[in-house]
Amino acid sequence: MAASSELLFYVNGKKIIEKIQIQKKACSVTFGGKVLGLTGTKSACGEGGCGACTVMVSRYDHNKERVMYPSKHVSSFTHSRHYTVTACLQPIVTLHEAAVVTVEGIGSTKTKLHPVQERIAKAHGSQCGFCTPGMVMSMYTLLRNQPQPSMEDIREALAGNLCRCTGYRPIIDGFKTFCNRQTSRCCQNGSGEEKCCRENGHSDSNQSDISEELFIQDNFLPLDPTQDLIFPPELMIKAQQSSRKMLCFRGERVTLKSPSDLSQLLELKSQHPEAPLFVGNTTTGPKLQVKSQHSPLLIYAGRVCELFRVEWSRNGLSIGAGSSLSCLKEEMERAVQQTEEELSVGYRALLQTLQCLAGKQIRNMATIGGNIMSANPQYDLCSVLAALDCTLDICSEDGTRTVALDEQMFTGFGKTILKPNEVLLCLHIPYSKPSEYVAAFRQAQRREFAFSIVNTGIKVSLQHDSNTIETLRIFYGGIGPTLVRPVLTCQHLVGRSWGEKLLSEACSSLTEEIKVPPSIPGGKAEYRKTLALSFFYKFYMYVTEKMRERGVSNARLPLEHLSALTPFKNEVPQGKQSFQLVSQSQSSSDPVGRPSMHCSGVEQAAGEAKYYDDLPPVHGELFVHMVTSTRAHAKIIGQFISATDVPGSNQRQWFNTVEEIFAEREVLCVGQIIGALVAESREQARRAAAKIQVTYEDLQPVLFTIQDAIKHNSYFEPKRKIERGDVDKALETAEHILSDEIYMGGQEHFYMETQGVIAVPRGESDEMDLYVGTQHAAFTQELVSQALGVCSNKITCHVKRLGGGFGGKVMKIAALSAITAVAAQKTGKAVRCCLDRGDDMLITGGRHPFLGKYKVGYNSDGTIVAADVTYYSNGGCTLDESAFIMDKALLHMDNAYRIPHLRGRGLVCRTHLPSNTAFRGFGGPQGLMVMESVLHEVAVRCGMPPEKVREVNMYQDDLCYTHHMQAFCPANMLRCWDQCLQRAEYQSRHRDIQRFNSQNRWRKRGIAVLPQKFGVGFSKGFYNQGAALVNIYKDGSVLVSHGGTEMGQGIHTKALQVASRVLKVPMSSIFIKETCTGNVPNAAPSAASFGTDAVGMAVKDACEKLMKRLMPIIEKSPKNSWKQWVNEAYFQKISLSATGFFMGPPTDVDWEKGEGNAYYYFTFGACCSEVEIDCLTGDHKNIRTDIVMDVGKSINPALDIGQVEGGFVQGLGLYTIEELHYSPDGTLLTRGPSQYKIPALCDVPAEFNVHLLADAENPHAIYMSKGIGEPPVFFGATVFFAIKSAIAAARLERGLSAVFPLSSPATAARIRMACEDQFTEMASSSTEKASSPWCINV
Ligand SMILES: Cc1cc2nc3c(=O)[nH]c(=O)nc-3n(C[C@H](O)[C@H](O)[C@H](O)COP(=O)(O)OP(=O)(O)OC[C@H]3O[C@@H](n4cnc5c(N)ncnc54)[C@H](O)[C@@H]3O)c2cc1C
Ligand code: FES
Ligand code: FES
Repeated sequence: MAASSELLFYVNGKKIIEKIQIQKKACSVTFGGKVLGLTGTKSACGEGGCGACTVMVSRYDHNKERVMYPSKHVSSFTHSRHYTVTACLQPIVTLHEAAVVTVEGIGSTKTKLHPVQERIAKAHGSQCGFCTPGMVMSMYTLLRNQPQPSMEDIREALAGNLCRCTGYRPIIDGFKTFCNRQTSRCCQNGSGEEKCCRENGHSDSNQSDISEELFIQDNFLPLDPTQDLIFPPELMIKAQQSSRKMLCFRGERVTLKSPSDLSQLLELKSQHPEAPLFVGNTTTGPKLQVKSQHSPLLIYAGRVCELFRVEWSRNGLSIGAGSSLSCLKEEMERAVQQTEEELSVGYRALLQTLQCLAGKQIRNMATIGGNIMSANPQYDLCSVLAALDCTLDICSEDGTRTVALDEQMFTGFGKTILKPNEVLLCLHIPYSKPSEYVAAFRQAQRREFAFSIVNTGIKVSLQHDSNTIETLRIFYGGIGPTLVRPVLTCQHLVGRSWGEKLLSEACSSLTEEIKVPPSIPGGKAEYRKTLALSFFYKFYMYVTEKMRERGVSNARLPLEHLSALTPFKNEVPQGKQSFQLVSQSQSSSDPVGRPSMHCSGVEQAAGEAKYYDDLPPVHGELFVHMVTSTRAHAKIIGQFISATDVPGSNQRQWFNTVEEIFAEREVLCVGQIIGALVAESREQARRAAAKIQVTYEDLQPVLFTIQDAIKHNSYFEPKRKIERGDVDKALETAEHILSDEIYMGGQEHFYMETQGVIAVPRGESDEMDLYVGTQHAAFTQELVSQALGVCSNKITCHVKRLGGGFGGKVMKIAALSAITAVAAQKTGKAVRCCLDRGDDMLITGGRHPFLGKYKVGYNSDGTIVAADVTYYSNGGCTLDESAFIMDKALLHMDNAYRIPHLRGRGLVCRTHLPSNTAFRGFGGPQGLMVMESVLHEVAVRCGMPPEKVREVNMYQDDLCYTHHMQAFCPANMLRCWDQCLQRAEYQSRHRDIQRFNSQNRWRKRGIAVLPQKFGVGFSKGFYNQGAALVNIYKDGSVLVSHGGTEMGQGIHTKALQVASRVLKVPMSSIFIKETCTGNVPNAAPSAASFGTDAVGMAVKDACEKLMKRLMPIIEKSPKNSWKQWVNEAYFQKISLSATGFFMGPPTDVDWEKGEGNAYYYFTFGACCSEVEIDCLTGDHKNIRTDIVMDVGKSINPALDIGQVEGGFVQGLGLYTIEELHYSPDGTLLTRGPSQYKIPALCDVPAEFNVHLLADAENPHAIYMSKGIGEPPVFFGATVFFAIKSAIAAARLERGLSAVFPLSSPATAARIRMACEDQFTEMASSSTEKASSPWCINV
């Protein structure tokens, strides 16, 4: 076979010809970054699961026309196709004759921004910015294909892009300005036919100082498609010439062959039957990359034109196995539109599945053949295709055969009947027949962009004009290792009449026949079986309804059952954000209080913002990869590069607790770092680390769960207690006693940028620079200096920005930096450490799981007389910050309530799990959750509305004292509460919900409203300090340095606003370069919602000092310019550099007495959420959320609203979908976005309103503002309690108790199983219990 090894493609209009060496990880991100110096495209997971690396690929397509039968409609297609891909899964070698556009290719701050870049930045859609280039490219590609998109187009385009910071609303707001007003649901100005998002709820228009405009769109750059890069003409010509040559690339360890036609492919397959073949690479790629599998020869079949044929005939569609799922979806859309309904019912079912299968990028890459041949029952297509009676053409050099796509096609997980030399050529999907009814169902952890837990395709054919079953095909994925067909049930039901009797027979038969293995990967066997039965029930209802519609039967479903048939619609979030305008007397040049854009917003949108791993390679740099323990508690036998190589101390000191940097003799959890390997490339370091064999001797005990720790009395010190009043005595006087508990799972930070650092030895006097993503540069500096045994003044930490932190980059990053610095010192070379997502999740810990056990005394009117709560947190194997986190939980347990007798005990469990650490809210979300659970349960038992019980117990007086005796005034909290109830139209919606619930059997709605009081500042008082350095240069420009780190929260922007106000120079003349320990020493971590308070005051202090020095010059020549004053000062030898310092309040708690001013002040708020649940699947939809938040006088309403929305959505994840799974041997199983689901666009409430409380002032903090980073997370709990109310409604209807346990997160599985009914009963009575569970609740 003739073969060429020349790869030709274009990147951003530039021609690239490569004779490339294939690395196993020759993917575009690496390629772009290393070869072209393009760093705009980010990598956050490496497995296609986050969209951060989205780029646009364009190809010339020959498929121009399709003829649809029987209508014979001819459809034309455009020649060049622009589509998004996730670069991390797109091998470079697959880009031959393609044009790639990255974020750098569409616009830049140096030339001109593309309108997409401009609008996401100006609409405040970029916080940490790490997801932003991916968002930009998804939107840009949409506009290339559809210059006037609808809101639905935007929703679809962004469904595969995750953002951990913003809560998505501002991104959508920026992008919907491109919408075609005719097709979009939003008219953008309130003049559309439907009710506009801007007119929802109460309007504040009567309050003239309230604004709902966070950005101004009038001067947006217009979209001008003529400015876009054209498809390279050379590639067009090449595509028409269609080269028949095979491409062959040889690398150090891998050879890749890319045949261009079927005969070449089949020849290769017969010569190398074992060589992996890939097309879209979306299954193969993650296996090769994340699971580090290796193969010396790879075959890429994406150029084999025979695999891409699409033909419509009288029988239906024949579609090449290499066609993408997007292509299949387009064909289905066309078919559904253009063929008669009876013929296309199967296509509708398939289309419904395709609509929520993965995200757009993955559907663009993933192929039909790959989906089927992966033989993964979690994949959705096979069950529906099998139900549709599809057949497959399979070919080899021996010929072609046609086989049925059914359960016999699959011989095991990942295995099919195909011989090693065979390939799947095409798929035939027949039209439906008039007597056929088809439906497909799926349920996943997250409604969109998530693998299904169970998927189903069902088809029934009825005899002509009767309701007698002729054939029935039921297929399930997700209930066994392969596709499952309950053959006996299907056979048994043939000849029966469609009706209630059949339903009960079918369910009994399915219950008997379906055996979900108790050890099934993913666990939840009982839930899976319940889903299988519930899906059949949905199908039954669907067919009954359709038969009535078609006039085949008169049988009617009860009206209240109908809503179960309509799947939840994913909507683009709409809403209103309001804030108080600054006073009219404020100078127009003073930016404080105005919604200024994030100061790096445009750089982030243009892909120019630099994160630690974007720094250019330092000459000769090396890479380090961590070697982690695979045992939970064991002695290490033997050693390698590790603790002994640490010249200084191998210990991380944190207050009085000590943690080893490298485990020396004993490991305490799976994932603990025991060594590190340094090599010339990332890949080599990773491979070498994987080869390290560590011998262990297992030790006892091994404890993982809170229950294990309680049993073994395994706790860290200190054990805390806090008490107000006489709880025991008061409990005796209460009318009722309630004893219960609530468990709340942990949470992974999932910052988009994983942890890492570059250590650069300076080769002189032991100096070392670290470029690091840390929230606590001073601690990193301190630990590195201790590990190296040098003074802190030799170590400089530089922090440009973080791609999200959320508390996760305070502690562990210091140890990672120390390891990297040790490696750099030892080798004398720069060393780069960049954790893979899987390692990051494994090593770095997260939010603590909590168990709250309580005994409460209450009266029938809902008054809580006394509460005794014991909190247990799972601290993991070392103390880290767990004790302080427990303190915060205890200090927040009263929330908004004056419970006269209140006792809290806090115990941090010592287990053999990775050490849990700080996470936004720092114990607050857990402490508050337990108390709100108490309030909720008391309300249920009193038969009172929960909001009434909350009101009865709320702090009301002008001067109140918390349970730790801190004085505060709850007036603003009560204002937030009242306004929230009013804005949310709580009472009328509550009535609507009751009506809805009485009219819908399988759908229930719930609503919940919660108040919040959240302490700001560190309870360790000495941390409440801030420092800054402000330099003015002779040209008048100002450089501000401060101790805070920028991680998306906008601390730099607020610091610039403060400096601009004091110095009276525009923000554009002031710059913040980085956070650097060399400029501002000993800074506190950016945490505790205290960053702006500390830094703002310090910047103000420094600027005021400078102004004081300049004032005589200004007064002398008031008409001069700033630059002239500065120059004059220089010539007068006046220092133009000043430090600023803020000594915060002396907060502290005396734990002996359980008293003290733990916080500087309190931030208040209230939140109301409404949800709808599907009682048959456990799915839920967030319908509406209203938040009223007291942030004092906001310094920057856009940033503050961004924090509220982002925090809420993170909390929504915490309380409803984010679930960590540990294996019974303590290994974290959820180590990437495919297993761990953070909220995506589909999770954001369809209506999401945020209001900053007007006329609120806070005399304690900078310019009367309040800290806001952490509090909104807890508001996610409103969704949890709304779900709980909805479940209660379902239970009450069945005569079950409204008292039932529900742990957090309220996942689909938990919701479904709590809505007990005949299906859950059938499933639980027939599901074998696992001898060892798949995962444990830690
Ligand atoms: C982030 C993410 C989310 C996803 N979500 C979903 C989801 O919600 N639902 C769902 O169903 N799937 C989902 N998937 C899976 C995706 O649909 C499959 O990975 C994809 O369809 C596989 O196609 P591919 O071309 O990428 O396969 P490849 O990775 O190229 O190949 C996969 C396997 O199929 C074999 N193969 C491919 N084509 C042929 C052929 N013509 N003949 C013989 N063997 C062949 C390969 O040898 C390989 O073994 C998701 C994947 C990702 C990465
Ligand atoms: S890095 Fe590519 S999708 Fe996450
Ligand atoms: S701005 Fe989206 S992840 Fe940070």
